[in-house]
Amino acid sequence: MALFDPPGQSETGPDQEVGPALRDRFGRRFSYLRLSLTERCNFRCTYCLPNGFIAQKGLPPELTRDEIGRAVGAFSKLGLWKVRLTGGEPTVRSDFTDIARDIAGQPDIRRVAMTTNGYRLAREAESWRAAGIDAVNVSIDTLDRARFAQVTGRDMLDQVIAGVDNALDAGFSAVKINSVLLPEIGAPDWDAILGFVAERNVTWRFIELMRTNGNSAEFRSQVHASQAIREKLEGSGWTQRDRGEGAGPATEYVHPDFRGRIGLITPYGEGFCDSCNRLRLSSRGRLHLCLFGEQGYDLRRLLERDDQQEELIETIARALPDKTQGHRLHEGDSGATPHLASIGG
Ligand code: 5AD
Ligand code: SF4
Repeated sequence: MALFDPPGQSETGPDQEVGPALRDRFGRRFSYLRLSLTERCNFRCTYCLPNGFIAQKGLPPELTRDEIGRAVGAFSKLGLWKVRLTGGEPTVRSDFTDIARDIAGQPDIRRVAMTTNGYRLAREAESWRAAGIDAVNVSIDTLDRARFAQVTGRDMLDQVIAGVDNALDAGFSAVKINSVLLPEIGAPDWDAILGFVAERNVTWRFIELMRTNGNSAEFRSQVHASQAIREKLEGSGWTQRDRGEGAGPATEYVHPDFRGRIGLITPYGEGFCDSCNRLRLSSRGRLHLCLFGEQGYDLRRLLERDDQQEELIETIARALPDKTQGHRLHEGDSGATPHLASIGG
């Protein structure tokens, strides 16, 4: 899965750890790298890869394990301390666990998280935890088995839920569910979701569907859907949690009767980009400063050898002032992003 774990993940961290090089000209700090390991995915979510993953000819190959290690090394020297492994579905790579272990072992990396569609989570949760992954985000757009199969193209809801439960048992510090608000699903299956969240120490995060160039025909603004959820929560005893300093744009709600939390991620909401603290590296080695809007900077030629580290660090530091102040989704501009699997959500 991918993708983008939604922009809204709130990630706080020690500001003093972040060197001046990782600030942009709007004063935002970058502590967090989203690293796409592959564009490939074995699901076919209607809003992302409705026809499944189709390899395009002529593109450079995926970064190797060594290239990934060098990239993370350079970002961490610039003060970045958290990495999220994403895709596509990152776990379709046979070297996924090794890559995770390498990154977790880098001296300046404090947290390694992953985003997955969950298809291997039931089997692998323990080994991924043992490799040093701290936190996992799992995509579940609906708890209705038939609709899940319709949306993802795979009848795997039970397996994915078993994965969430194994992840909770394996001792990850956070397990979150990403649930995209989709017109074809309609209103969220409240009773099922509330039951799920009552029993489990997870954060269930509703995400407004973001328009990409590949889903514009399907796209409809879900702003009202998230507003309805907000009203429902506020009318039934859920209270908004204080947002920590440096938190991302997710709003989280808690309720005394529930073990888990409910979050809302509203990329169309006001101020969404203000707290953006992330950079993205595509599976082919392009640095993207925003999910939407630009072609990226090709870092690949600087990932070939260890003796290029200094030049790599300088190149990244020089690119950051170009990060734009916000996306232009409101104007219907999805930039160069065909679907989120292409850039690591
Ligand atoms: N809008 C919002 N969320 C999306 N995701 C993928 N594409 C989109 C989109 N266009 C979600 C996936 C996954 C997360 C990584 O990104 O459902 O949970
Ligand atoms: Fe795959 Fe994630 Fe895209 Fe679904 S949203 S097709 S799981 S990459």
